[in-house]
Amino acid sequence: MTTAPVFVFDPYDYATQEDPYPAYTWLRANAPLYENADQGFWALSRHADIVAAFRSEGVFSNKMGVTLDESAWGPNASAAMSFLAMDPPDQTRLRKLVSQGFTPRRVRELEPRIREITLSYLEPMMEAGSADFIADFAGRLPMDVISEMLGVAPSDRAELRRLADLLVHRDDGMRDVPPEGVEAYFAVVEYYMELLRDRRKSPREDLASALLVAEIDGDRMSESEIIAFLLLMIVAGNETTTKLLGNALFWAHRFPAQLDSALSDPARVPNWVEETLRYDGSTQLLARYLLEDVELHGRVAPAGSQLVLLVGSANRDELVFPNADQFDLDRDTTQMASFGGGRHYCLGANLARLEANVALDELVKRVGGLEVHDERAVRVHSVNVRGFASLPVTVRAR
Ligand code: HEM
Repeated sequence: MTTAPVFVFDPYDYATQEDPYPAYTWLRANAPLYENADQGFWALSRHADIVAAFRSEGVFSNKMGVTLDESAWGPNASAAMSFLAMDPPDQTRLRKLVSQGFTPRRVRELEPRIREITLSYLEPMMEAGSADFIADFAGRLPMDVISEMLGVAPSDRAELRRLADLLVHRDDGMRDVPPEGVEAYFAVVEYYMELLRDRRKSPREDLASALLVAEIDGDRMSESEIIAFLLLMIVAGNETTTKLLGNALFWAHRFPAQLDSALSDPARVPNWVEETLRYDGSTQLLARYLLEDVELHGRVAPAGSQLVLLVGSANRDELVFPNADQFDLDRDTTQMASFGGGRHYCLGANLARLEANVALDELVKRVGGLEVHDERAVRVHSVNVRGFASLPVTVRAR
């Protein structure tokens, strides 16, 4: 008698990282509450279960962080991830205070500067006719926008970008923070401390100044709370947006009719951004710590377990997105789970969307033809972000 091989979902496996979607399909159909006993985690893969987990209170905790990586999982996760790694009431308090400075208006008002920064990288790329879309463009814009918002002097931005890259960089397969990452962490903290010292003395119109005076009923953030939030902006808002831009080009190239459609009309750009977020979002999974047993689909994940919400799988659930494996700019994407949901819903979603829309809008206005050399594309091997480290492109001006 032969027994069927046991299916193993291993998010660290390179083949799975290359294309996790068949594994997600299997999980949704056969093991909607899945246990990987070797690696010690559980996983939810159906859209309905993931959305319900985002919205529920008191069971799916963020207090140990949100990543599978051992180095970032534990009771101290909030030191670098601020309120992303907290539960109410601490998360509620800090998110409210931060939201006084990080307002939709502040984000909207950044648009002209985002356009200028975009053009400063796009124009040389157009002149050269070819580029590494990540190194020369998508990898630069998001950190510069964060710096712009904070009030970092233009002359310091390149160095901060370098440090931010080191902070989040992991060599392939590495689950721990490398020594350069630790050094970069201290250098960034020192830089931000100096920035806050300066703004305390001479406030400006920037986010750093706004966070220093944010107040609710006499309660303010301490310096270390502000610094932790600034680090969270780097961790949550930098690489994710870079990867979104790269994924947008990559998938449009793989679905040429969609690329033609996007390049033919700047009004298609918002759909291009939204469908990329759904089809192949940069955040594929978010971990939770279970405060109570979770019983679903005939199985029980016990309290104390680490459970991952497979956001990338929710976005391909056929029950919500018919023909989910088609990249289709005309589809309804409103149910996407890419920015999470409930109390931890991405605070920077409107900023990420604005950046991506501006970047692709300026690209579409200039580019008549676009070739992505996917045979030379280099994928990042990380369970935290999905996308490319390098994406060689050739562009032809209109
Ligand atoms: C494509 C780009 C982005 C994606 C896919 C993304 C995705 C997410 C997701 C899924 C969460 C929820 C995490 C959870 O529930 O555990 C989140 C939270 C967060 N994001 Fe984003 N994000 C992006 C860009 C940004 C940007 C540009 C910023 C700001 C500069 C930002 C700041 C945050 C913050 C502060 C949180 C924590 C919210 C909380 O815990 O209350 N994100 N993001």
